[in-house]
Amino acid sequence: MIKAFASAVFALAVLTGTAQAESWSLSSDDSKISFGSVKKGTVGEVHHFGAVSGKVAADGAVKIEIDVASVETWIDIRNERMLNWVFDAVQFPNAIITTQLDMKKLEALKAGDTMTMDVTANLSLAGQSGDIEASLFVARLSDGKVLVTSDELLMLNVADFGLTDGVEKLREAAKLSSIAQAAPISLRLVFTADEKSAAVSPAVVPAGLKVSAVAAAATVAGDPAAGAKAFRRCKACHEATSEKNKVGPHLVGVVGRAAGSIEGYNYSKAMASTAIVWTPEALGEFLKNPKEYVPGTKMVAKLKKQKDIDDIIAYLAEGAK
Ligand code: HEC
Repeated sequence: MIKAFASAVFALAVLTGTAQAESWSLSSDDSKISFGSVKKGTVGEVHHFGAVSGKVAADGAVKIEIDVASVETWIDIRNERMLNWVFDAVQFPNAIITTQLDMKKLEALKAGDTMTMDVTANLSLAGQSGDIEASLFVARLSDGKVLVTSDELLMLNVADFGLTDGVEKLREAAKLSSIAQAAPISLRLVFTADEKSAAVSPAVVPAGLKVSAVAAAATVAGDPAAGAKAFRRCKACHEATSEKNKVGPHLVGVVGRAAGSIEGYNYSKAMASTAIVWTPEALGEFLKNPKEYVPGTKMVAKLKKQKDIDDIIAYLAEGAK
C-alpha cells in the first residue's frame, strides 16, 4: 500500500526550467491512517493513528512509519490495552510500511490528474511482517503535492500479524461476546516534493541537457500556429491530437511527460529505460539530434532549423491546438 506519490516535478521544471524534486515527504498534519473494529457482531467503531511519517526516495523506495503510541480509540483504557496487548508497543514502537514505486508512472501524472494503482506493500507490525495488496487512488493536487488514498477498503486479518491473542485479551477484559478478526483500514496520505537544486541527478542527465533560461525563453518564443504546420513532418509517425500510436508513440501531453511512458507502445530499450522527462529543453535537444541525445532510439527524424523546433514545442506544449 502506500506507494505512490512520487515523481519528479517535471511540470514545475517545465514552468521554471530549474528545480526538480527527487524525493517526497509525507505531510504528517494532512495524513491519517484509520482502522475499524466490530464488537459483539454489531457495534462498529473507527480508530486512527495520529502520528504518521514517511519518505519516498528518488528511486521509488517508500517507507512509512506509524508511531503506534499515537493510536486514538477515544477511550483511554482501550488505547492503553491496545498498545500493551495487541501492538506490544514497548518492544515495537513503530509499524513500518515499505514498498517500491514505479516512478515513471507517477512522473507522467500531471497536476489535476488522478489514477489508480495496485501495489504490494510490506507491513511490519508488532514484530510480524506480511504483504498487503492494496488498490490506491492517486491524485496530483499540484506539481509539488500528491494525495494518496485507499481506493477500496483494505482488510487486515488479525491472525496474519499474530494479533489474535492480544485481541482475545481485549475481548475478555471488556467482557465482550466477540471482536471481529478482520479490521478494515483506510488511508489518507499527502506527500510534498522535497526541493532540490540540481535538475536531475548526474547519473541520468544526458549529455547536452542543460536547463537554461535561454532555452526556456526560446521555447516561449515559439509560435504554435507555425508549429502546427511544421508538425506535418512528424505526422507520418505521430498523432498529437488523439491518443493513438502509429509508428511512433502519440504525443498528446508530451511536454512534461516522462520519456518512454506510453503504455502499450513498443519503445526501443534506450527510450524505455531513460530517465528523461520531456521538458521543452529536453525536447529541443532531442529534436536536433535524436540519436545523439538518446543513443539507441528508433526515432530518426531530425530538425535543422531552431525556429521549427521552437514552434513545434510551442504547438505541443499548448496541447496541439
Ligand atoms: C519516421 C517516423 C518518425 C517521424 C517522422 C518522427 N518520429 Fe518521433 N518517434 C518515432 C519513433 C519510432 C519513436 C519511438 C522512439 C524509441 O522508442 O526509441 C519516436 C519518439 C518520439 C518522442 C518520444 C516520445 C516518448 O513517448 O517518449 C518524441 C517527443 C518524438 N518522437 C517527437 C517527434 C517530433 C516532434 C517529430 C517531428 C519533427 C517526430 N517525432 C518525427 C518515429 C518518428
